[in-house]
Formats: sequence, C-alpha cells, structure tokens
Amino acid sequence: MDNYKEFLLILSSAGIVGFIAIVFVIRWVLYYQGGLAWDGKLAEFNWHPLLNICGFIFLQGLAIIVYRLPWSWKYSKLTMKFLHATLNLLAFISAVVATVAVFDFHNDAGIPNMYSLHSWLGLTAVLLYALQLVLGVGVYLMPFTPVSWRAAFMPIHTYGGLLLFGSVLATALMGITEKLIFSLSTDPKYKDLPPQAIFVNTLGVLLVIFGALIFWIATRQSWKRPTEQFLHTLHSERGSEVESKVGPALSQLSDGAEGEEALGEVRRRINKIDDQVN
Ligand code: HEM
Repeated sequence: MDNYKEFLLILSSAGIVGFIAIVFVIRWVLYYQGGLAWDGKLAEFNWHPLLNICGFIFLQGLAIIVYRLPWSWKYSKLTMKFLHATLNLLAFISAVVATVAVFDFHNDAGIPNMYSLHSWLGLTAVLLYALQLVLGVGVYLMPFTPVSWRAAFMPIHTYGGLLLFGSVLATALMGITEKLIFSLSTDPKYKDLPPQAIFVNTLGVLLVIFGALIFWIATRQSWKRPTEQFLHTLHSERGSEVESKVGPALSQLSDGAEGEEALGEVRRRINKIDDQVN
C-alpha cells in the first residue's frame, strides 16, 4: 500500500475521534438528558441521537472504508462484500429504531411530526439509504446480476454512498443544534453557553472531523483494495483483454520516479477493471 504510515495515521485518528464521539453522545443522554427508557417520554427520545450517532453514522463510516483495510485483503472480495453489507444493514436498523423512537415520543407528547428541515432531510436519508442497501445487495451480491450492470452501477453506488454519508452527518448536526435550542430554552439558555452547550457543540465538531477523515480515506485511489486476481487474470482467458488495458503502462515499468508513476497507472487501470467485474 502507498503511504502506509499516512493511512495508519488517518485511520487511527478516525477510530479515536469516532470513539470519543460515541462516548460524548452516551454521556450527553445519560448525564445531561435523563437517561434511556422506552416509555414515550424524553428518555425514549434519547435513543434517537444515541442510535443515529453510534449506528447510523459510526457503522456507516466503518462500512465505507472496510475494503481499504490492508489486513482484510487476504479475505476474498465476496467475504468483504458481506461484511460491507452487514455493517450497512446494522447502520440502517439503528436508523430505523432511532426514527421509531422519535415518532413515538412525538405522538405520546402530542408534538407534530415532520415539520422541521431536519426531519425532512432525515427521513429522506433513511429512505434513500434503504434503497441504496437493496440495490447494493441486488447488484453486487446476487450471482445472476450481469457483470455489465455491476460495472454501470458502480459510479452511482459509490457516489450515492458518499452523498448519503454526508447528508446524514449534516442532518445530525441540525438535530444536535435543534435539541440544544429546545432543551436549553430557559435558564441556562443556549446563548449563555452553559457546560452542556460546550460539550454538545464539541460532539458536533467531532462528527465533522470523523466525516472528513472517512471521506479522505474513501477518496484515495491508491488506498483501494488491489485486485486479488491481477496476476492470475493476466494469464487467464480474460488475459488479453486486461493486457490490452494495462499493457502499455506495464511496458513502461522501470526503476525510479518514472517506474513509480507507471506502477500507479497500472494500479489505477487494474482497480477500474476490478470494479467493473466485481
Ligand atoms: C443522524 C441521522 C438522523 C436522522 C436520519 C434523523 C431523523 C429524524 C426524523 C425523521 C425526525 C422526525 C420525527 C418526527 O417528526 O416525529 C427527527 C426528529 C428529531 N431529531 Fe433527528 N435524526 C438524526 C439525528 C439526530 C441527532 C443526532 C439529534 C440530536 C439530538 C436529533 C434530534 C432530533 C430532534 C430534536 C427531533 C425532533 C424535532 C424535529 O422533528 O425536528 N436527530 N429526526
């Protein structure tokens, strides 16, 4: 892997920041917001931020970068696809339970549903996430899906995944701000910046940093999972097809900077082919 040290630094930063964000949201709901219960009251609402941050955001972030972990490269692509799908499914289940919790709380308290921008974008994100999950499983895990469909759908799948992750993060930041305004409406007020406000604002900053690190890892071409079939494929029946695509770059391979560049080009072309057929 290129820049392995940089990868480790960014990955461990994402892990640490994500973990601290989880500790922060747990402390927020347990210490500042009265704990957890399933009783239609505020303690039921508290499942909403807790599950959305620990499940919908953290697990989704993990699912996005799971193919990039070099330790996973010894497992087959199919195994990793199952892991990616499972993490996304767990994230989705968290989002659904989190949404049920807030609707339950609203209905019990006679608060109208779906009036805020946060709720519009949040419900849209959950529904589109479900669509992304169904299409992802249908296209990449069903053996009968034609390879050409997989290739054609890949840019939409990756763009959709990152767009959803960004939207969910933005939705969470809106939700956090709303909740602080609601719960710090009398003494002390949000604008007085009491300890809870500082604490939860910091949680929001942690979420932005977590998102930024995940986006960085997910958008580095050189950190993509290398195709396990590369050398094998070169000698298989598809060899000539692959060779025609990577061959010109391969023939430029030499020592020094030029060689490095050519190697990078080879990797980019191979990754493209791998995406298309897997
Ligand atoms: C991260 C993904 C999130 C999604 C997809 C999401 C989604 C939703 C949805 C669909 C509603 C509407 C419920 C209804 O109308 O009955 C809602 C309400 C609410 N959410 Fe979230 N939420 C997220 C995160 C958060 C977080 C982290 C907080 C922080 C406390 C939060 C705070 C609220 C509040 C205060 C409401 C009630 C007021 C309103 O309807 O806007 N949300 N959320």
